[in-house]
Amino acid sequence: EIKSLFCQAQAYAGKQITVGGWVKTIRNSKALGFIELTDGSSFKNLQVVFDDGRIDNFKEITKLNVGAALVVTGEVVLTPEAKQPLEIHADQIEVEGASSPDYPLQKKRHSLEYLRSIAHLRPRTNTFAAVFRVRSVAAYAIHKFFNERGFVYAHTPIITGSDCEGAGEMFRVTTLDMDNPPRTEDGKVDCSKDFFGKATSLTVSGQLEAECMAMAFSKVYTFGPTFRAENSNTPRHAAEFWMIEPEIAFADLDDDMALARDMIKFVLQYVLEQCPDEMQFFNNFYDKGLLERLENIIRSDFAHVTYTEAVELLEKEKDKFEYPVYWGCDLQTEHERYLTEQVFQKPVFVTDYPKEIKAFYMRMNDDNKTVAAVDLLVPGIGEIIGGSQREERLDRLTARMAELGLKEEDYSWYLDLRRYGGTKHAGFGLGFDRLVMYITGISNIRDVLPFPRTVGTAEY
Ligand code: 4AD
Ligand code: MG
Repeated sequence: EIKSLFCQAQAYAGKQITVGGWVKTIRNSKALGFIELTDGSSFKNLQVVFDDGRIDNFKEITKLNVGAALVVTGEVVLTPEAKQPLEIHADQIEVEGASSPDYPLQKKRHSLEYLRSIAHLRPRTNTFAAVFRVRSVAAYAIHKFFNERGFVYAHTPIITGSDCEGAGEMFRVTTLDMDNPPRTEDGKVDCSKDFFGKATSLTVSGQLEAECMAMAFSKVYTFGPTFRAENSNTPRHAAEFWMIEPEIAFADLDDDMALARDMIKFVLQYVLEQCPDEMQFFNNFYDKGLLERLENIIRSDFAHVTYTEAVELLEKEKDKFEYPVYWGCDLQTEHERYLTEQVFQKPVFVTDYPKEIKAFYMRMNDDNKTVAAVDLLVPGIGEIIGGSQREERLDRLTARMAELGLKEEDYSWYLDLRRYGGTKHAGFGLGFDRLVMYITGISNIRDVLPFPRTVGTAEY
């Protein structure tokens, strides 16, 4: 690819090579022309020099528009004076796909909003090429981190019969004809006639299944697509997003936080090393100070407060907020951002939330009011991680489920984990898309997703 060509310029000098790519710019005089070609491997475009006589389709090439796909064969010529270390003098240019003059990506800078309307062409812009390269490298870093620590990568199901978070924000999956569904005697939709013989949905979290795997492998993680029918039209919510969910046996909340911190630092470090050009680009064009901030995060410790302490801090500034703050309230994005941006100016773990605002599976603390939950908040976004130590005590778990009206028979497999060699264990979910926002400084989740699916949008 073009990136490796530039990295090893000397080795290619004078050699005949073939490259495929898309036209970024093209200009020509009577008998000589220049094309800037990109193949997406880096910001650097390859200059292709073509002249009449050396290629036999000069006329055809001069008529090409930006965006056309070409395969170029020619000689590599070093250009020590120029911006790029080499160019290619074409002997043959094959037009794989011409592009119309109304190509939507013109040379000017387009707004991210406009580019969202053409998601199929976005990756050809510098910004999105950089975002999606970083996204790919960050995903690899996640796998590398867990593999080096001996975690088993577990594939948890996409279609599921249980609502892990208990928030009722599931997308139903059904084979029934919902225009005219079969009904039971009392008029309800008869789910026993559905494909699986019961109601199913797209998963909101692989956690419950990850817990099963952790009770066999000790250390596991999932990394997959997750779906939430949350009706929140915000810059940090997507209906389809990617989540990483490690689950560790023989571990408590402190172990969980240490794992989260090490993972975040590892991924930041890896991306900074592997994508220096992209990170410099984001620093220059999207978020001045990004590089310095990320480097600081790698070096320094994360802050830690309990929910109760966080509420006390927020209550002192309650006039600054739109939403009320009181013990028992669910922290809103404005509260989370205030804590991490104004109070601590670094990532903050908030732990021990009231049981009422957290899911059924979290371990009850001795105060019987709070649970061993943890959220990680970061500047610019708010929550990027939600996790907890799990309730391993069967009697406590079933009591909590009864309080919440969850039926034991629906979770019998999950309760079995507490019957047959259960142990204390903990885990968390990292929103991958939010992590990519954090790394790149891009402020809308839609702009870190190749094909964003948010409430009201499903063009692709
Ligand atoms: O806090 P959440 O809901 O936690 C869970 O799902 C647990 N079962 C995780 C676990 O303990 N294994 O979600 C975890 C993270 C959030 O912190 C957030 O980063 C991300 O998932 N997230 C979303 N990201 C984008 N769009 C949405 N609609 C999201 N909802 C959650
Ligand atoms: Mg959460």
